[in-house]
Amino acid sequence: MRADSPVRYDADRELWDVFRYDDVKYVLDNDGLFSADPATAGFGEEIADSEGEPPPVFDTMLFADPPEHDRLRGVVAEFFSPRAINEQADRIRGLTERYLDDLNDEFDLVSELAYPMPVDVIAEMLGVPTDDRAMFKRWSDTLIERPEATTEAEMESFQQRQRETQREMSEYFSSLIETRRADPQDDLITAIIDAEVDGHRLSEREMVGFCTLLLVAGNITTTNLITNAMRCFTSRSGLFDEFRSGETELSTAIEEALRYRSPVQALFRVTTEPIDLGGREIPAGEGVVAWLGSANRDERMFDRPDEFVPDRQPNQHLSFGYGTHYCLGAPLARLEAKIALESLLERFETIEPVETDLRPIRSSFIYGVEKYPLR
Ligand code: HEM
Repeated sequence: MRADSPVRYDADRELWDVFRYDDVKYVLDNDGLFSADPATAGFGEEIADSEGEPPPVFDTMLFADPPEHDRLRGVVAEFFSPRAINEQADRIRGLTERYLDDLNDEFDLVSELAYPMPVDVIAEMLGVPTDDRAMFKRWSDTLIERPEATTEAEMESFQQRQRETQREMSEYFSSLIETRRADPQDDLITAIIDAEVDGHRLSEREMVGFCTLLLVAGNITTTNLITNAMRCFTSRSGLFDEFRSGETELSTAIEEALRYRSPVQALFRVTTEPIDLGGREIPAGEGVVAWLGSANRDERMFDRPDEFVPDRQPNQHLSFGYGTHYCLGAPLARLEAKIALESLLERFETIEPVETDLRPIRSSFIYGVEKYPLR
């Protein structure tokens, strides 16, 4: 694709795909031309509720363009600054150690550490009970699901599941917001309730959207970073010893895992005017998919792109996006992954995969596996 059709129109999906590094970066760096708000061109209507309202998550920074975007991001930005996040290192280490204490000689990395730990971290930051973790997982899994529908009835049932999940999440967070209003705490939900944007409090819908976004964005992605990184590491014999001796930096190898097995494979934008890109003219109001996973393997940008090179530097991967919407949680995700992997290395002399078929998770834009058994 990168060589022959770097920008192409897929008539079945009615979407444009962008594959090269420079083009993907261009899309992400030009909000004026490529809007992050799917509603600008009527996308998302199919999962609107009975009153025609799209889910509250559509009213968040992720789907807003500047200047609205910057105002919303400003509400929580300080909670996610590298300094604020580093202050959480001991708490994250404590949570990780607790999960490691429960591991048997053979364990599934996904369900026993890589999933629950990041959920606990973001749940505690938000101020929601970690006991509701199983429910969060069900919600997140549904929201990132790939529609495998071939018939209209199957598509309707997929959309119904999405709507139902959005409704459950809205009810859950509305009631939690109510509780916090009456009894403020030192947590993100209280900060979101107290926030003023241009002299106004956020609407209930915006608050619910905020909570949904932070809960979902902060877990499946980091789960897959930890698992994908471990898959990269076990594929290189002797790498664990290199980490222990300091010959190879763990953080550098995590960056390379982000590039090589990108947890988020694709981002969606809508053109606001006709645009020439990669030799094609994309009309206004069209859906564009910027393929991060492909950009990260672009031979024009990276040497030996299809090889996992643990000490690769520099490494300007696009796994956390680029520009205005650059991942707010990047410092947190990096810290969680580093602590999880470091703690595993300290705890176990050797770590190797158990022979088994790995099943990819069911999603069109998140890359990872359902289970990753190790011993
Ligand atoms: C945005 C990836 C972890 C919160 C993004 C974007 C990417 C991304 C690619 C850009 C979206 C766009 O341009 O449309 C990742 C990956 C993660 C991760 C690969 C883990 C390895 C987290 C965590 C949080 C988080 C832990 C925190 C709770 C967000 C938020 C945005 C975002 C709020 C929207 C930022 C904005 O619109 O300004 N993330 N993310 N992410 N991420 Fe992450």
